[in-house]
Amino acid sequence: MACVTDEVLVMNGAEQSPMLPDLYKVRQVHRETDDAFTLELGRAAGHQPFGFSAGQFNMLYVHGIGEVPISISGDPGGQATLVHTTRAVGAVTRAMRALRAGDMLGVRGPFGVGWPVAQAEGHDVVVVAGGIGLAPLRPTIYHVLANRDRYGRVVILYGTRTPGDILFRKQLEAWRARLDIEVYVTVDRATEGWNGNVGVVTKLVPKAPFDRTRTVAMICGPEIMMRFTALELERRGIDADHIYLSMERNMKCGIGLCGHCQCGAAFICKDGPVFRYDAIRELLSRREI
Ligand SMILES: Cc1cc2nc3c(=O)[nH]c(=O)nc-3n(C[C@H](O)[C@H](O)[C@H](O)COP(=O)(O)OP(=O)(O)OC[C@H]3O[C@@H](n4cnc5c(N)ncnc54)[C@H](O)[C@@H]3O)c2cc1C
Ligand code: FES
Repeated sequence: MACVTDEVLVMNGAEQSPMLPDLYKVRQVHRETDDAFTLELGRAAGHQPFGFSAGQFNMLYVHGIGEVPISISGDPGGQATLVHTTRAVGAVTRAMRALRAGDMLGVRGPFGVGWPVAQAEGHDVVVVAGGIGLAPLRPTIYHVLANRDRYGRVVILYGTRTPGDILFRKQLEAWRARLDIEVYVTVDRATEGWNGNVGVVTKLVPKAPFDRTRTVAMICGPEIMMRFTALELERRGIDADHIYLSMERNMKCGIGLCGHCQCGAAFICKDGPVFRYDAIRELLSRREI
């Protein structure tokens, strides 16, 4: 966890300026889909583990190009490397996609408030992801499965545009093979060879077995998908204060100083990115400012 003081940030036990990136080396690159990739990073100097909570993000700096917020997609319980999964959409993320093992990257973080994995103990857990949104939720899934006896039913609902856009496919198949977790996947558009569900992810909600009186739901994906999913989950009887979602806004400082990510009274970087639905419902309908 990171906490902000007046001038320094205490990150993983070491004091340093929150605006100063640490140098990391790319250890491995995994192609996930045509436009998404996973980078496994290790500290360039030393081997201290990188502690973080599920749902937190880092500011990743590609030298000479720029810095972007990217959620940590690795296992919070197994921190041999720092893992991020990114979709290449613009200047920085495309430059990041061109990185190879041995290349350097700047890392600031971890920042932000993560998923409510502690509050969800004793509850059924419903994880709903759209597209690249599965990456910020994966640490939660790792955590819940590592502490399986602390949770009730666990359900993953995942939707992508096409079968070729499915992230972590082998891992999803492995999770689906387990007897203590339900995994449903759907695509907007089927391609040849796809025999699974077709339709938006909200259509999976009625298939999901959960006890509406004791469920915590966590949603991550495009804002329109999160809005409709939250409405559907409410229709299924989950209270708004048991639904959480992760918001995205352009960021600069990542620590509540520059105001770049301000959305109403909230700073997405510091007060989020994970918010309770009842606290963010009104902001969710507002476009980025
Ligand atoms: C807290 C937080 C966590 C995030 N975690 C992740 C993550 O785990 N993985 C990940 O891939 N991304 C994540 N993002 C989004 C990521 O930060 C942006 O995609 C990135 O900043 C884009 O920077 P760029 O310079 O490559 O593109 P830009 O040059 O800024 O944008 C290029 C074009 O892409 C569009 N664009 C920008 N962002 C997105 C987007 N998110 N989706 C679709 N189009 C976009 C822009 O409108 C523009 O047209 C996260 C964002 C936040 C705020
Ligand atoms: S990014 Fe600077 S205040 Fe949030």
